[in-house]
Order: sequence, then C-alpha cells, then structure tokens
Amino acid sequence: MRQFRNRNGAASMTLSTFSFPTTTIFGVGAIKELPQRLKNLGLKRPLLVTDPGLLHTEAFSTVQEVLGKGAKNSEWFIFSNVHPNPIEQDVVKGAEAYREFDCDSVIAFGGGSALDAGKAVRLLVKRPTFKLGDFDWKDDWYGLAPCIAIPTTAGTGSEVGRSSVIILEKTQKKSVLFHPGLLASLVLLDPVLTRGLPPKLTAATGADAMTHAIESFTSPVFHPLCDGIALEAVHIVVEALPRAYRDGNDLDARGKMLVAAAMGAVAFQKDLGATHSLAHPLSTICGMHHGLANALCLPAVMRFNATRKPGLHRRIGIACELDVMRASDKQADDETIEFIGDFLNDLGLRPGLRNYDVTEQHIALMAPQAYADTCHQTNPVPVTEADLRDLYFQSL
Ligand SMILES: [Fe+2]
Repeated sequence: MRQFRNRNGAASMTLSTFSFPTTTIFGVGAIKELPQRLKNLGLKRPLLVTDPGLLHTEAFSTVQEVLGKGAKNSEWFIFSNVHPNPIEQDVVKGAEAYREFDCDSVIAFGGGSALDAGKAVRLLVKRPTFKLGDFDWKDDWYGLAPCIAIPTTAGTGSEVGRSSVIILEKTQKKSVLFHPGLLASLVLLDPVLTRGLPPKLTAATGADAMTHAIESFTSPVFHPLCDGIALEAVHIVVEALPRAYRDGNDLDARGKMLVAAAMGAVAFQKDLGATHSLAHPLSTICGMHHGLANALCLPAVMRFNATRKPGLHRRIGIACELDVMRASDKQADDETIEFIGDFLNDLGLRPGLRNYDVTEQHIALMAPQAYADTCHQTNPVPVTEADLRDLYFQSL
C-alpha cells in the first residue's frame, strides 16, 4: 500500500490559523448587485479607486451604468490616478480625495494595482499623517473603511488578499503591506468585466494566478486547506486560461479564471516563494508586467527547487492531468516543469528575459533586491543571493 507522507512535517507541534472570511459574489451580472450591496452595508458615498486606463473600457462603462442607475440617493466619486505599479503617492492622493469628497467607503475597481491602492487608501483615511514607509503589521489596522473589491483582471487575486503591494517613497522598492484589516468587506467577481482584457494581458495575469497556486502549494507551511485550493486552482487555470486567451468572450473560461485567481490568492496566505522575489525587481527596475515576470522565472525556480526536494511537483503534475502518479520523483518533476514551460510559451509568454530587454547589468542590480524581498523566505528550499542571481541568468 502506498504510504501517505506528511509533506510539511509535524503539524501537531505548532498552532495554525485557518481563515477564509471574504464574502464573494460570483457570476455573470454580479456587478448589478453593487447598488443593493452598498445599501445593505449602509454606504452612501463610495470612492471608486481605479487606474486611468480603465476609464475608457467597457468594464468602467458597466460600473458607471450600474452606479448611476442604481444608487439614486447616493453619490459616488472617482479617483483614477493609480500607476500600473502603484506608488505611495497614489495612496496619499487617494486618501486626500476620500476626505475631500467626504466618502464613507472604497470601491477598489480594476487590476491588481487599483485593488492594492484602493485597499491601502483606507490606511491613510484611518491615520492621515501616517507614512506608509513606517507600516508595521503588528500595529492596529482593524476597523478600516469598508471596501468592495471588483477585479477586472484574473491574476493577482488581490480582491481576497490581506495585503497591498506599494512602491514606497523611502526605498523605491515594492513593499508588501500586510494586515488582516486590509481585507475587502465584499468581493464581486463578474466575468463580463474581464472580457475586454486583451490576450497578452489575459495570459500574463493568468500566469500570475498559476504562479500563486504553484508557489503556495510548494511553500513549506502546514496548511492543507490552502494546499487543496492551490491544486484545484492549477487544474482550473490549465483548463480555462488557454480558452480565455483564445476567445476573450468565452465567459465560462473568464469566470473560471476569476475564481482560480481568487483561489490562488487565498492559497498564498501560506506565502509565496523565490519566483515572486525574482519578479518584483523585474517590475521596479525593468518595468515588466508582474505576471510576465513570474512566467519568465517560474520554470527555473521549479527546477532549482526540484533538484533539492525531488518529487516536489508531482501533485502539481497530477493537477495538470499528467500521468505522473507512479513516475519516479525526477520524472514527475521533469514532466511537470516541462508542461508548465510549454503551457506558458503557448500563451505567447515566450521565455528568455533577454527577449524583454533585460541585461546582465540589470541582473547585477536586481539580485540584491530579490534577496531583500521576503517572498523567498517561504520558498521550499532556502536560497542565497547568489542562487537568485543564478536563477536570473538561467531565465535570461
Ligand atoms: Fe503575484
């Protein structure tokens, strides 16, 4: 009989906290719930936080129509100056707008950047003179203004996350502001809002969701609930992302990707791994899209981890419907990594950092930043700065 091993060691020796608290409304037309949900929550003056690119999209017209028609006795306001990788000033200005319009809540609307900025605005609503560079997760950040999160991409899953990634003024680096108080009060997942996303962005954001699922599953923290969610997210992404990439109007595929992205983010409360540490400087130094950066680094990190923890990726392979149940550890890892590499390539995410103008000089700057990034601390095996530099070169 096959022996079932506890992959992550002696769970009974430590206390674990399992929490999946965000109410989520999913389905075609979920956005139409917004006025009634605002009313139910007693919210009358929401500030919609988004990025300027969204203002001319079908998704924005839809929310405009819903709020305009549905919330007759309320007023709503827009702050749309969020950068593609949000900076501290976006949060400062958003909080100023919130106060100027005397708002009582936030609607975070858009991709990961708008969602992260929208969630974080509430920090400076609570403490107007606070500097985000002094953020400490041990401080009391409960009781923030209510936030309804509505994603228009399927990738970061920030709508169900407890953190905001913001580039801080004092370090000019992406910093993860983490606190359970940052959770949105309500999430609306409507596939109609994501159908305008072009194939390239569909692929890159979907690759982010896939990376969250893989890195959280392989992270050595005891959390079987998240592990199950991560594996199912992998399974859904493999089935739905190619369809959403090929046909943006495939609402079934779009919906599945929205759910998979949220699942990836729920799973990564376990934390992430070295791929995300490598990806963050690629955005801050080279301006690369976060999902693309993950896609380009993920296979090398999986290979690195597999050589030190053989068999690590077997269950990911099974989630991808590969026949690796009885394969050797090495064969299971090799086949899974090859599959993931081909999968990403087939989505137009051509491997090779060099193809995106990343140079050896960039790597010299990025390696220390990647090492300073905390994500790799929950990588399945420890990494050094030299390892991260090698991984950039292997991905070059
Ligand atoms: Fe990510």
